[in-house]
Amino acid sequence: MKSQVLRILRTAEGYVSGQSLCEQLGVSRTAVWKVINQLKDEGYGICAVNNKGYYIDSYPDIMTVSEIRSLLPEASIFRDIVYYESVGSTNDMVKMLAEQGSSSGTVVIAGQQTAGKGRRGRIWTSPANENIYMSFMLRPDLEPQKASQVTLVCALAVREALYKQGLEALIKWPNDIVIGGKKVCGILTEMSTQIEQINYIVVGIGINVQQKLFDPQIAEVATSLFIEKEGNYRRSQIAADVLIAFEKYFALFMTQRDLSLLKETYSSYLVSKDREVLIIDTKESRKGIALGIDDTGCLRVNVDGHEEVIMSGEVSVRGVLGYV
Ligand code: BTN
Repeated sequence: MKSQVLRILRTAEGYVSGQSLCEQLGVSRTAVWKVINQLKDEGYGICAVNNKGYYIDSYPDIMTVSEIRSLLPEASIFRDIVYYESVGSTNDMVKMLAEQGSSSGTVVIAGQQTAGKGRRGRIWTSPANENIYMSFMLRPDLEPQKASQVTLVCALAVREALYKQGLEALIKWPNDIVIGGKKVCGILTEMSTQIEQINYIVVGIGINVQQKLFDPQIAEVATSLFIEKEGNYRRSQIAADVLIAFEKYFALFMTQRDLSLLKETYSSYLVSKDREVLIIDTKESRKGIALGIDDTGCLRVNVDGHEEVIMSGEVSVRGVLGYV
């Protein structure tokens, strides 16, 4: 009910009367009053005025389930949201829930991770209450070899959510989000499959929001929203915007079961589009001009007048002068 009260107050033009809340929610005045007090305790700036009702004029930067749910449409595919103050890894936690039979669209968000995982076995440093650590699980009717494309769908969603915050975020193929040439978000997709079918996919998203200091090994390539543009970022709003944008793009992805409807949009946000990149193979490295992605998410690169199609995971691609 807390999320419903929040949603009503958030979307109202002005004050909402206690009577109207009671009617919309089918509960008593006392029940509404209790929820309003709980919300005040959580840090919401709720003005209560006689004969007018309630109005929210400030929101805390908290990641409660009711806050996030209230920011999502009621018909969202992300229905089951779980929040933990601290977990090992949100990917592992949502995987555990999947193994226990949780439904597609389960989301795990944490204030802190003690064993955050990056790609290629790296550690994802996850300090408390500064950043977004979120994983969701889907059970799509999709061939296992296409699962990695979902990561690119997610990159599009994160870019859009950050753009809503007034940030010029771009995508470093296949799935890093960069601002000002530095990485602000990483995405780790894992899955459980049978021979020809996906049991579930886990998409884990780490967005550096308020973090101001990074380990010396990554300080040159890592950044946060705050470092790029100072502001009062509300992590729950950004997390909800990622989920909303993901649902929109994922629906388009599933109509074709590939990226054909999204490749133009994705390519237009590529940080290396029409720029020189270095393709680093185990044997050799070569230079080319990045053109965009194809229907399957491979990077198209013009190397000496010939188009090469690069699969993610096989080689790494970076700018000729450094990370992007
Ligand atoms: C990368 O190496 O770029 C991917 C980083 C992914 C980090 C996120 S944080 C939430 C989720 N839980 C994890 O353990 N990892 C992902």
